[in-house]
Amino acid sequence: MGTFADFHRQSIEAPEAFWAEQAKGIHWHRPFDQVLQYDQPPFARWFVGGQTNICYNAVDRHVDARGDQAALIFVSTETDTETVYTFKQLHQEVQRMAAVLRAQGVGKGDRVLIYMPMIPEAAFAMLACVRIGAIHSVVFGGFASVSLASRIDDCEPKAIVSADAGSRAGKVVPYKHLLDEAIKLSSNKPNSVIMVDRGLAAWPRTEGRDVDYASACAALTDAQVPCEWVDATHPSYILYTSGTTGKPKGVQRDTGGYAVALNASIQHIYMGQPGETYFSTSDIGWVVGHSYIIYAPLLAGMATIMYEGVPIRPDPAIWWSLVEKYKVSVMFSAPTAVRVLKKYDSSFIKKHDLSSLKALFLAGEPLDEPTANWIADELGRPIIDNYWQTETGWPILSICNGVEPKAAKFGSPGLPVYGYNVKLVDDATGEELHEPNRKGVLAIEGPLPPGCMQTVWRNDERFLSSYWRSVPNRLIYSTSDWAVRDEDGYYFILGRTDDVINVAGHRLGTREIEESISSHAAVAEVAVVGVADQLKGQVAMAFAVLKDASLAETADGARVLEGQIMKVVDEQLGAVARPARVRFVTLLPKTRSGKLLRRAIQAVCEGRDPGDLTTIDDPSALRQIQDLMGA
Ligand code: PRX
Repeated sequence: MGTFADFHRQSIEAPEAFWAEQAKGIHWHRPFDQVLQYDQPPFARWFVGGQTNICYNAVDRHVDARGDQAALIFVSTETDTETVYTFKQLHQEVQRMAAVLRAQGVGKGDRVLIYMPMIPEAAFAMLACVRIGAIHSVVFGGFASVSLASRIDDCEPKAIVSADAGSRAGKVVPYKHLLDEAIKLSSNKPNSVIMVDRGLAAWPRTEGRDVDYASACAALTDAQVPCEWVDATHPSYILYTSGTTGKPKGVQRDTGGYAVALNASIQHIYMGQPGETYFSTSDIGWVVGHSYIIYAPLLAGMATIMYEGVPIRPDPAIWWSLVEKYKVSVMFSAPTAVRVLKKYDSSFIKKHDLSSLKALFLAGEPLDEPTANWIADELGRPIIDNYWQTETGWPILSICNGVEPKAAKFGSPGLPVYGYNVKLVDDATGEELHEPNRKGVLAIEGPLPPGCMQTVWRNDERFLSSYWRSVPNRLIYSTSDWAVRDEDGYYFILGRTDDVINVAGHRLGTREIEESISSHAAVAEVAVVGVADQLKGQVAMAFAVLKDASLAETADGARVLEGQIMKVVDEQLGAVARPARVRFVTLLPKTRSGKLLRRAIQAVCEGRDPGDLTTIDDPSALRQIQDLMGA
C-alpha cells in the first residue's frame, strides 16, 4: 500500500496510466484504444474505442465464480417480505425483464423510464436496460405527476416500468394514477407501460398500452437475452437533478467510465471485498441508490441489500438486525437517518453483533459533530463522511482508507479523492485560493474523472452554462457549493451557492417548488428558501403574496389556504417537496431591479443578520417576514 498523496498525485499527473490500471478491474469485450480523449474540453471521453456492458460486469461475469452466492437481498418491512436472489437467479430475472422490454420494441439507445418503489423488479429493470443498451431514467417514487411529466417530456421514453403501489410506514402509496396523470400532461406518449402488480392497490388499465409484467413473464422462465456490447461512451442512464432553474437537469452518464470508477471505488474508498455484503439505505431514485445500491456493489461481486421501509419500523433495531443477519461489511446512509435513530434508546444497536461491519459511510448533507460522535460511540466503528453529487456519481471528497488509513476530522468529508483535481476559487474573480481557511467555490479542474456526467441530456449548452461557465474567467467545473480548506488540506462544506436546498439529504430546487405554489389560483407571487432544521438539515419555507390579501387575513383563512397550497405541491411534485410552512405576506423583499433577496429571507428565518440591504426596494417587506418568524 502506498501513500494516499502519491496515489492522488498519479491520478492527476498521469491520468491515462492511472485509469488504465483501474480499468483492469472490469471486463472489456473490446479493449479501448485511448484512455482519455480531451480534445474538446470540457467534454471528456473515457476509454475510447472500448466496448463493454455494465450488466455483464455486474451480473454475468460473477455467475461462474459465485453463482450461488447472494447478489440481491430484498427486505421489505412494509410487506414483510425477504427474498435473496443469488447471482444465478439475478441473471435469470434480469434476462426475463430484458425479454419483456425487447418484446415491447425497446432496443439500444431507447429510453426507459422507471417509476417504482424499492422492489427487486426495479433493480431488474435498471440492469435489463443496460443489458440491452437501453438508457434508463429512474424517477424517485416520491415524486408526483408534474415532476414525472417534465422528465417524460425531456427523455421521451419508449416504455415506462412501474408498479401498482409503494408503501411507507404501513401506508400504501398508489403510483398508477399519478403515472397516468403524468402521461396525460406530457407531450410525449410512451408505447407501453409495464406494470408490476404487487397486489397492494387496484390500478386502471389502458388497453393496448399497459402490460402486466407477471403475465408477460409467464412464458419466459428461461429467457435468454445476450448482453449488447456498447461503446464505453454509450450513455447508460439519465438521472434528473435539481438546479437553479425550475427545470431539472438530465445528468447523462456513460458506460465504461462509470463501471471502472464505481468498481475501483469499492476497493479504494469503501473497502468492500467480493462475497461480502453492502447495505446502502438510500433509494434507487437518487444517485446514491444508482451507484451504491445497484451498480457498485454488484460490479465488485458483493451482495447488496435493497430495503423497503423506514428505519424505525418494526423497531429502531431493524437496520442493525440486517447488519448482523447478512454480515454487512459496508454500510452507507445519510446523517438524517442517524438523527432519526438518535432519538431512540441506543440499546437497540448494542443488542446486535456488528462485528462484520468495517465502517459506516454517510453522505448527502453536512454531518454535524453531535450526530457523528453519537453514532461513532454506539457502533464503535469508523464513521466516514463522503461528499459528492448526482453529477459526479461517486465521491469527490472522502478519506480513502482502502489506499491508506487516515484520520477523519469531524465536520469535514475529507480530502480530494483520486481523479479529482479539486480547487477552491473566488466566486468574483475565478482566482484560485491557495491559502488555508479562505471561503471559496469548490471547483474541479477538467477533465472530470471517469464516472462523472458526460453532459446534460440533449443539452450540451446547458452542461456548459450550468457547470463550466459559472466561475468567471476560467473553464472549471463548479459544484455550486461553498467550502474552506484547512492547513492539512481537509475540506469543509459550507452550503450551496445556488437556490438548491437539501431536505433530509434530498436535493430540491426552490424554483420548482415556487413554480408549483404559483400554480395555485390565489397566489400572485412566492419565494421559497431553505431554513436550517435540527432533524432534516434544512426544510423549505414559503412566503406567498396573494392576489387577494384578504383571503389570509384571519388565522382560519390562512390555515385553509396553507393546507390547499401544500396539497398542490404534494400532487404536483410529491410530499418530499412540501414546504414546512406557507406564510402570507403582502410584499416580497426585492432589490430595486426586481431580484428576490432570497439570502436575506433565509437569514431572517434563521435568526441571522440579513447582511447588506442597501439595494432593497422596500425594507418593510423583510420586516413582515421578521414579524412572522418572531411570532
Ligand atoms: O450540497 C452538497 C450536498 O449535496 C449536494 C449533492 O446532492 P445530490 O446531487 O443529491 O448528491 C448526493 C450524493 C451523496 C452537494 O452539492 N452534499 C452531499 N454530500 C455532502 C453534502 N454536503 C455536506 N457534506 C456531505 N458529505
